[in-house]
Order: sequence, then C-alpha cells, then structure tokens
Amino acid sequence: MEAISMNVARTIQTHLVLPPDTNHHGSIFGGKVLAYIDEIAGIASMKHAHGNTVTASIDSVDFISPAYAGDVLELEAVVASTGRTSMEIYVRVQATNLITGTSCLTTESFVTMVAIDEDGHPREVAPVYPETEADTLLFRTAPERRAHRSAKRALQSHK
Ligand SMILES: CC(C)(COP(=O)(O)OP(=O)(O)OC[C@H]1O[C@@H](n2cnc3c(N)ncnc32)[C@H](O)[C@@H]1OP(=O)(O)O)[C@@H](O)C(=O)NCCC(=O)NCCS
Repeated sequence: MEAISMNVARTIQTHLVLPPDTNHHGSIFGGKVLAYIDEIAGIASMKHAHGNTVTASIDSVDFISPAYAGDVLELEAVVASTGRTSMEIYVRVQATNLITGTSCLTTESFVTMVAIDEDGHPREVAPVYPETEADTLLFRTAPERRAHRSAKRALQSHK
C-alpha cells in the first residue's frame, strides 16, 4: 500500500469545559478528557483507514496540567505510525483561558486503533510518512514505543 502523509488524517476538535464536566476543585474530570481522546483517535484512525476502527489500547495518558470550567480545550490527533492493521494515534490536548489568553498543554496520549472489516476482523492499513519536524520526531520514536507495547502484551499473556 502507498504511504500517506501524516497531515491527511490530522484531526482537530474544540470543546468548552462546562461545570458538569468538573470536580469539586473546578477542574475537568480525567474520564471526560479520556472520552474526548478516544473519540478523536477514532476519527483520525477512520480518516486514515477509510473504514471502521476499534480502540485496541490506550497505551499512555499523561495529565500534565488541569483545565478549568470556562477553558477551551483543543485536541489534535495524528496517526504517528502504523503496523500491518494497527495505527498508533498521538493525541495532544491544550487548554486556553479565553479571558487571559493563556494556553497550556494539559494532556498527552498514545492510543492504538485497529482497522476492521465488515466481519470485525483486522484489515491492512497504509503506512504514514511525516512532513513536519514534530511529526518526524513522533514517527522516528514509534519503533521504541511499539517494542514497549509488545513487551507489555507478552507479559500480560503469561499472567
Ligand atoms: C483489537 C482487535 C480487533 C484485535 O484483534 P485480534 O484478533 O487480537 O487481532 P491481532 O492479534 O491480529 O492484532 C491485530 C493488530 O492489533 C494489535 N493489537 C491487538 N491487541 C492490542 C493491544 N491490546 N494493544 C495494542 N495493539 C494491539 C496487534 O499488534 C496487531 O497490530 P498489527 O497488525 O499492526 O501488527 C480485537 O482484540 C478487538 O476487537 N478488541 C475489542 C475492541 C473494542 O471493542 N474496543 C472498544 C473499547 S471497549
């Protein structure tokens, strides 16, 4: 299959943090951010695969700083690398306070999505290639993360 630029499936989503999404400190629930991450990873992977995908694993989530009611969350998802049927999606979440104009990185995550056919079986996806400096770094470091995931899965299958 011919490789596709990482720019093609890049996806951006914006959400306003509302009071029901926050805890008693006024900051957003981690579970709410996770749901947004899962959704945008699904969209980016379906764009790339031109078909249905499922979440195989949320490989890592780092909650770096809180976002508060009234902040705007901007999520960006990119297909960082691919296997035969799986896609590693990098999701970055930034929060902006529209009153002060200050922005900060709140969450980073890597999610593995798998393309499936109409019977729910994994199906092949095209590889990706980077075009920007940031995408090149994500792409180049992917084999290390893949090896880490494989080692984790091997350990789980021995439990
Ligand atoms: C993900 C799923 C399709 C994989 O099916 P499978 O029969 O195990 O298929 P395989 O073992 O051939 O794996 C297919 C690909 O998924 C990857 N994969 C499977 N499980 C994985 C996991 N836990 N973490 C990361 N990657 C995983 C494999 O590495 C392989 O990638 P590659 O083709 O790029 O090398 C299947 O486990 C499934 O349907 N899971 C439920 C998904 C779901 O319902 N998600 C919603 C969340 S509740």
